[in-house]
Amino acid sequence: MMTSVNIAGVDFKNPVMTASGTFGSGREYSKFVDLNRLGGVVVKGVASKEWLGNPAPRIAETYGGMLNAVGLQNPGVDVFIEEDIPFLRQYDTNIIVNIAGKTVEEYVEVAKRLRDADIDMIELNISCPNVKEGGVAFGTDPKMAEYVTSEVKKYAKQPLIVKLSPNVTDITEIARAVEAGGADAVSLINTLLGMKIDIYKRKPILANRVGGFSGPAIKPVAVRMVNQVYNSIKLPIIGLGGICTGEDAIEFILAGATGVAVGTANFSNPRATIDVVEGIERYMDVMGVGDVNELIGNID
Ligand SMILES: Cc1cc2nc3c(=O)[nH]c(=O)nc-3n(C[C@H](O)[C@H](O)[C@H](O)COP(=O)(O)O)c2cc1C
Repeated sequence: MMTSVNIAGVDFKNPVMTASGTFGSGREYSKFVDLNRLGGVVVKGVASKEWLGNPAPRIAETYGGMLNAVGLQNPGVDVFIEEDIPFLRQYDTNIIVNIAGKTVEEYVEVAKRLRDADIDMIELNISCPNVKEGGVAFGTDPKMAEYVTSEVKKYAKQPLIVKLSPNVTDITEIARAVEAGGADAVSLINTLLGMKIDIYKRKPILANRVGGFSGPAIKPVAVRMVNQVYNSIKLPIIGLGGICTGEDAIEFILAGATGVAVGTANFSNPRATIDVVEGIERYMDVMGVGDVNELIGNID
């Protein structure tokens, strides 16, 4: 049975990775998950300098999912290079670094700092709904999306994945823009913008008022968008949004994803990534699929 895939020239032993911001840099999860079993680890967003994130409360549960407004808290790229890369390199898995910035210059600075780092790919987050500047503003305007992609591409040494926001009318427009900007792959979806209200206090639960909605409840939206993007551009796709099981992952692959990532599911089931790897293998076995690549976009 062949489960390996190639995304923008990088070989993955299987399509399964972690979703940025839901797995840290793998250290905490390594007690539960053998990181060697994963196709890749996508780390929490890294900025040029330390970011403190948003005030609490910044997490709220919803039916079938959650809202978060963490606000891309991170210790900055230097700490990441010093501490997290050596940790992750002990394992036989790809390291994908999700980068964040408030300005184009900040994104470029992180890509430059990572040029000599021992990592496999960069994922450009132009889709976070919880930061005031940058973030989602870049991901919802096709011209800005193309511009920031092309600027980062100039300086990035590793293949560049651009992560798309679902908070747009037509995601294929943004996908085409980042393809034109030189992206090597796209990942989708980031969180949907959501809100939850405490009806007794009559105020929003999150200090930030709104947050990013993720988890199983968003899966149909994500599958639809992956399929639309698959039919619109030539770049390989990493699909995510509510994946909890191997069956969920297969749905994304059939919609057109070459890779898949597991996010919110890690919080309720620390071994979710392994369950997804095993679930894909089980499906292939039962369905007599010899090579996972046969499944990509293979629906009527
Ligand atoms: C607590 C939390 C933090 C996140 N942080 C990031 C981040 O730093 N960068 C990013 O690109 N996406 C971030 N995301 C979005 C996820 O990577 C993913 O796109 C989204 O949650 C949908 O997948 P899921 O439903 O499987 O969680 C975060 C999501 C959550 C729940």
